[in-house]
Amino acid sequence: MKLSFLGGLTAQQFLKDYWQKKPLFVRGAFPEFTGLLSPNELAGLACMEGAESRLVQNKGNKWTLRRGPFGDKDFQKLPKKSWTLLVQGVNQFLPEGTALMDVFDFIPRARLDDLMASYAPQGGSVGPHFDPYDVFLIQGIGHRRWQISTQEDQRLLPDAPHRVLLDFKPEQEWITEMGDLLYLPPQCGHYGLALDECMTYSVGFQAPYAQELASQFLMFLQDEIRVDGIYQDPDLKAQAHPSEISKDMIAKVSDILGGIKWDAQTVSRFLGTYLTEPKVGVVFNPPKRPLTLEKFGQRAQETGLNLALTSTMLFHENCFYLNGEKLAVAKEDKATLRDFADTRHLPAENLAGESLENQFYQWYRAGYIVLEKRSRHDTGSSQN
Ligand code: SIN
Ligand code: CO
Repeated sequence: MKLSFLGGLTAQQFLKDYWQKKPLFVRGAFPEFTGLLSPNELAGLACMEGAESRLVQNKGNKWTLRRGPFGDKDFQKLPKKSWTLLVQGVNQFLPEGTALMDVFDFIPRARLDDLMASYAPQGGSVGPHFDPYDVFLIQGIGHRRWQISTQEDQRLLPDAPHRVLLDFKPEQEWITEMGDLLYLPPQCGHYGLALDECMTYSVGFQAPYAQELASQFLMFLQDEIRVDGIYQDPDLKAQAHPSEISKDMIAKVSDILGGIKWDAQTVSRFLGTYLTEPKVGVVFNPPKRPLTLEKFGQRAQETGLNLALTSTMLFHENCFYLNGEKLAVAKEDKATLRDFADTRHLPAENLAGESLENQFYQWYRAGYIVLEKRSRHDTGSSQN
């Protein structure tokens, strides 16, 4: 199917020719799009404890960076021009944010990171830089001049508080308007400059460094593996140097370590928990006065279930992972939970099988799922 927001490409064509390869600019990709929140609402989010926010000011090549949460005073002191407010994880606060990320559902959720929103008055920019991940930039209000470069020179300004390219050499540029889309692959140098009051929404993907994956996997393995036995050396030989670690000892320990085994199942369990583990600072809001299990069941029959905006759910085969926790389900429950994970909603009529009710109830009490219909700014903090 041709997707208008990809300029008429199919998802397959986009993945084959652009994803992780080259930029794509689509004028008027989202003709109806007017933005998800006002500058004031974004500032409101930047004042919240759970939101990761940054304020970047630029004066020529002088950069300052401050991290939130901010207070009203921080905004009052700002100059008229040349600053940017950026808030990560907007999808955790706005259902519309999750909906915007869902547009890119042809890319696996396991690769998805979050939605960032930025606001800048005229002249605001975070400077030319490159990111190690893929991003779809969607223009909200105002205009931004985007310049991009495939340059290899990735040297950074030595004194900047964040990563700004020392010598950016633009090769292509666009002036984005409301509803325009710019896809950038990893390592593509880019420089966005607000031409007037401007908001930009970034759907970002995660691409963990191999080193990070390896060390996280080793930590995961710690709790998973059992290596039996104890070090033994009935064949011990007298040594000329008592302080020497002998070849024999190294060989014996190598054999023991050879008992550390993992397979694709282990890796899938690792990925399931690692990729759904809540990020630092993510807050779940368990109900203050939880319903009884019985009342929960009745209520769920009326409302269905929703994943809290802060929840992440993925699956592999019949193993489901929600916020770092694993649940293996019976064959007959797989389709129900898969739809729940895909759509983040479980309609009342699909709750019929009671087998998962206890599990849903526990998730409800943990604040992972909510019963109410969502409204703007709902953080999954229903009090029922
Ligand atoms: C912005 O939204 O101002 C910056 C986004 C980016 O350059 O990655
Ligand atoms: Co960037």
